[in-house]
Amino acid sequence: MAREIGVGLIGLGVVGGGVARALLERRDYFARQVGAPLVVRHAAVRDLAKPRTVALPPGVLTGDVEQVLSDPAVDIVVEVIGGEEPAGTFIRRALAAGKHVVTANKELMAKSGPELLADAHGRGLDIMFEASVGGGIPLIAPLRRDLLANRITSIRAIINGTTNYILTSMAREGAAAEALRKEGIEPVGSGGYQEALAAAQQLGYAEPDPTNDVEGYDAAYKLAIMASLGFRTRVRPSAIHVEGITKLTARDFQYAHELGYVIKLLAIAERTDGGIVARVAPAFLPQNEPLARVDGVYNAVQLEGDLTGQVLFQGRGAGAEPTSSAVVADLLDLAHSIVLGNRERKYWGPEGDTPILGVDALETRYYVRVHVSDSPGVLAKIAQTLGDHGVSIAAVSQKEADADERTAELVIMTHRAREGAMQAAMREIAGLTVVAEVATFLRVEG
Ligand SMILES: NC(=O)c1ccc[n+]([C@@H]2O[C@H](COP(=O)([O-])OP(=O)(O)OC[C@H]3O[C@@H](n4cnc5c(N)ncnc54)[C@H](OP(=O)(O)O)[C@@H]3O)[C@@H](O)[C@H]2O)c1
Repeated sequence: MAREIGVGLIGLGVVGGGVARALLERRDYFARQVGAPLVVRHAAVRDLAKPRTVALPPGVLTGDVEQVLSDPAVDIVVEVIGGEEPAGTFIRRALAAGKHVVTANKELMAKSGPELLADAHGRGLDIMFEASVGGGIPLIAPLRRDLLANRITSIRAIINGTTNYILTSMAREGAAAEALRKEGIEPVGSGGYQEALAAAQQLGYAEPDPTNDVEGYDAAYKLAIMASLGFRTRVRPSAIHVEGITKLTARDFQYAHELGYVIKLLAIAERTDGGIVARVAPAFLPQNEPLARVDGVYNAVQLEGDLTGQVLFQGRGAGAEPTSSAVVADLLDLAHSIVLGNRERKYWGPEGDTPILGVDALETRYYVRVHVSDSPGVLAKIAQTLGDHGVSIAAVSQKEADADERTAELVIMTHRAREGAMQAAMREIAGLTVVAEVATFLRVEG
């Protein structure tokens, strides 16, 4: 058996703890797979006094990242602290010191992945980042390797467990409330977003500050990574249209259900004739679509290749064990390559320059919920405005008229329309005197 492969961990939290545990508990199995034992030389943390979920050999835990970066016996650095900085600096320094890197850092890889990968490649090293998207679900390796023969045409994903948990709760609460109302009982809960968020926070599925998840940024980072690999061109997070889930109401779930849809936060990147359109937004999805059945904290990614057709990946997108599975797989891959003599690693950076288009270029169907005054001719005015922009109505229904306030709610489903035209029509409709508010505007995907 070859010499030991030295591993240095930066971070020993949820993911780092899971990785350290797997390396200690499965040491012999991993050694047989790789042809050399993997040994954790150092694990750097911020607070040495914190209790840990894993018992490391004496002298391994350190409060000094320098020990990881400067020890020649560390061959591979595992960065699992998260955030752009100081993680980025640590990774650059690890590369400069001749060490391969494994990271779970979606934000850093989404924003600076190509530069970091080029830096690594220039030094005959590699950065592996399977854990940055979809936790334990294999996605990066399939995009980098197994689907390489394909021209990927679309990536459609539920890639944030927190929001999927919240949306699933809202849908279930809505269904339960509907059943109660049929029995003549008024439900106690509101079935609203705030209630579902609070429950997710209590269960540890949402962070105390949930902004990154509920506003769609986390999903956008993951989509940027997948789209850049899948389309072999750089898709920056800033080029992705992002909408969060905070404005959805129990009503939207009720109407979605009545119309045969579910509401999901979808991360979608597609090739169109003019370029790539990428978006993260809550959307209507037909109930019979595979992604519509992905509930709770589960993640799923549906890729479409010109040779494979549709391929679906599904599983647990977060948590210590699933994520450690992805980090350790990357570690084993790199360790094996070191055992084989550190042969040059393949370069994975973007190569094309396909234009990234705004959502204006999109063509799809739409669901719109509008509060209007309950007076004759309102629907005609709205239909006229949509028509002026080339948008035709597929179905419309009037809901919840309030006799005292003389207001009503209109739910409109459109035929396929260009998003630019639809947005222009919405601005005009919002300005009509008979319209109080365009309450919800969602794409119908699928
Ligand atoms: N949690 C998941 O399910 C999951 C899934 C996929 C990807 N990821 C990604 O994995 C990474 C880590 O996430 P996590 O959930 O494991 O985070 P976490 O539980 O908060 O752990 C972060 C660890 O990093 C250490 N740390 C932070 N700043 C440091 C610094 N400047 N120097 C040294 N150590 C530092 C912390 O030390 P202390 O322990 O002393 O505070 C802690 O051990 C992130 O990029 C995250 O996006 C997480």
